Amino acid sequence: LDNKDVQLRGAGTDKGSRVRVFGRVHRYRQQKGLVFITLRDGYGFMQCILQGDLAKSYDAITLQRESSMEIVGELAQVPEGAHAPDNRELHADYFKVLFKAPGGDDAITNKVQAKGDAQTLLDLRHLTLRGEVASNVMFVRDAVEFAFHQVYREVRCRKVSPPALVQTQVEGGATLFKFDYYGEQAFLTQSSQLYLETVLPSMGDVYCIEKSFRAEKSLTRRHLSEYTHVEAELDYITFDDLLVHLEEVMCRVIEITMSDPKIAAIIKELNPEFQMPQRPFMRMKYSEAIDWLVEHNIPNEEDQPHKFGDDIAEAAERRMTDIINRPIFLTHFPVEIKAFYMQKDKEDRRVTESVDCLMPGVGEIVGGSMRMDDYDELMAAYEREGIDPKPYYWYTDQRRYGSSPHGGYGLGLERFLAWLCKQHTVRDCCLYPRYMGRCTP
Ligand code: 4AD
Ligand code: MG
Repeated sequence: LDNKDVQLRGAGTDKGSRVRVFGRVHRYRQQKGLVFITLRDGYGFMQCILQGDLAKSYDAITLQRESSMEIVGELAQVPEGAHAPDNRELHADYFKVLFKAPGGDDAITNKVQAKGDAQTLLDLRHLTLRGEVASNVMFVRDAVEFAFHQVYREVRCRKVSPPALVQTQVEGGATLFKFDYYGEQAFLTQSSQLYLETVLPSMGDVYCIEKSFRAEKSLTRRHLSEYTHVEAELDYITFDDLLVHLEEVMCRVIEITMSDPKIAAIIKELNPEFQMPQRPFMRMKYSEAIDWLVEHNIPNEEDQPHKFGDDIAEAAERRMTDIINRPIFLTHFPVEIKAFYMQKDKEDRRVTESVDCLMPGVGEIVGGSMRMDDYDELMAAYEREGIDPKPYYWYTDQRRYGSSPHGGYGLGLERFLAWLCKQHTVRDCCLYPRYMGRCTP
C-alpha cells in the first residue's frame, strides 16, 4: 500500500497510488467479464473494478448490494467518456467480502424509494437511510446544525442545555406529553424558552438546540411529536432588533452551509431553484395578511372569508406564502391567538409583538416574540389563559428580580431543512421521525 486506507471522498488522492478501501456495495453490475462495484462509506463513493480471475470468483459473482467489503487496488483516472464518482476508479487486485447482505433488499435503493409506499419505507427507515436522497438530507442536516452553533458564536450567544422533563407548559396544554414523575405529574418540554429567559441575567444572550415534544393529534406534513428546536433569547432588545437578528442568523447559517462545496452541490441537486433569501425579509402585519387573504379569496377554516382574530390555518398560510414566494415575517398577531407570555404592542393593545417566519413550500418555520416583562401584566395573562401561576414561580421571579425588555424565538430544524432541501415533509428531515402512530424504529 502506498498510503494509508483511503476514505472514499478522498478526491485528491493521487492517481496511480495503491490503496485499500472499506465500504458497502451501493451498486453492482457485471459486464463483459468485468464486475463494477460502487462502494459507499458515508464519506463518498468509489467505483471499483474487478477483472480477470477476480471477476470470475464465486464471491464476485454472487455479491449482493449492501455487503460490506475490503478492496485493494490501484487508483486510476476513468477513461474518456466514462462516468464514475469523483472521476476516478479503483482497479482491484484483491478483495474480501467482510459481511454478506441477503440481497433482494430493493427498498433501500433510490429507485424503489420513489415508488414504495410511505409506511413501508418508514418501517425500513434504518435501511432507506442508506439511499442517496435520504442520506443527502442527513448530510445537509449535519452541516446546518453545525452552522447554527457557529453563527451563535459569531453573534455572541452562549449555549445552554435546559431540562427536557418539566412541570410547566409553554405553548398550550393540548399538545403536552404527560408522564408520571415519581408520583407527580410532569411533561416533556414543548420549548426551552422559559428556561432561556431565566438565564439572561447570568449569561447574557443564550441559545440552545434541544428536542421539543408536542402531542400533535393531527397528521400533517410539517408536524412531528419530537423535533429539534433551535431557540435563542436576547436581552435588552426591541422587537425590530429581534427581526434583524433573526434575518442575520438565518442568512449566515445558509451562507456557512453553502460554503462547503459538497453540501452546496447536494442542496443544488435536491433543490435546483434554491436562492439565497434577500434581506430584509418582507414584513407583513397579521392584519395585512387578513386583508390579503380576503382579497385573494382564500377562506378560513369555516370556509368563510378571513376576519381579524382568526387563526391563519396551515393551508391558507402555505398558499399565501407560495404565492408571495419569498420569506415573510408575519408580525403583530392578536393577543387571543398567541401564547400567554407575549408582549403586547404599545400602540395597539389588541396585538402582540410577535413574529412567525414563513417560507415558501413549508409555511411557518420560526415563531418568536418579545416577552411580557411586567410582573402585573404577566399575572393577568396567567389568569386570562387559566394557567395556575404556582408552578411558574421561577419564571415569574424573572419579573421581580430586575426585569428587562427581552425577546426570542424558536426555529424548527426539520422545517428549515424541508424548505432548504425542498422536501415534501419534515418526516424526511430527521433520522427516525416520531408522529402520531409512529414511535419506531
Ligand atoms: O411556534 P412555536 O410553538 O413557538 C415556541 O415554541 C416558542 N416558545 C419558541 C420560542 O420563542 N423560543 O414553535 C416554534 C417553531 C415553529 O415555528 C416550528 O418551526 C417548530 O417550532 N415546531 C414544530 N416542528 C415540527 N413539529 C411540530 N409539531 C412543531 N411545533 C412547532
Ligand atoms: Mg408557532
